[in-house]
Amino acid sequence: MVVLISGAGSNMAALMEAAKDPDYGVEIVAVGTDREGTRGIEVAREAGVPTFVVPFRAYADRAEWDTAMSDRIAEYTPDLVVSAGFMRILGPAVVGRHQAVNIHPALLPSFPGAHAVRDALAHGVRITGTTIHFLDEGVDSGPIIDQVAVPVEDGDDESGLHERIKVVERRMLVDTVGRLAREGWTVDGRHVRFGRTDTKENR
Ligand code: GRF
Repeated sequence: MVVLISGAGSNMAALMEAAKDPDYGVEIVAVGTDREGTRGIEVAREAGVPTFVVPFRAYADRAEWDTAMSDRIAEYTPDLVVSAGFMRILGPAVVGRHQAVNIHPALLPSFPGAHAVRDALAHGVRITGTTIHFLDEGVDSGPIIDQVAVPVEDGDDESGLHERIKVVERRMLVDTVGRLAREGWTVDGRHVRFGRTDTKENR
């Protein structure tokens, strides 16, 4: 798989740790990012994983950037792209060519977008959480694979709540990606099931 990150890369690091076990069934062939200078990309380099950078500002518009990102991913011929804290919207060039999953720090379809934890707090929900879903051409709108709930505590602020979400998010990501790799998956409309069948959409 190719893992895409934009920041600290703690989810990527959890996947790298899990992938050390051959029984986990996943090989991380490259880590890509939209920006230089983040801790996550340094961690990947230190681990000796191939990395690539496709800086958003180096392209005339979103479509050109999206095409460049799709081409760089394709060089590694991954079976799956994992957007694990990647903070840009991947467009049709990527989504139309690569199977990709994304993690999101809220219980979708509530609170899509870049400020999910802040938005959940502002709305006053008592339970939020994390979602892993396949990417489609919308924003955080693709078929849901798994979700885990996290209670909001009185006095929570954005960073404290986000850290608690990330603890369960890393576990969910590692579990789900391992199962996708080992068992395959079937997407039937909005419904995702583990396991291979003979339908057209199965992998
Ligand atoms: C995660 O909570 C992810 O859901 C969100 O950004 C965070 C990334 O954290 N989109 P990290 O870079 O993996 O530490």
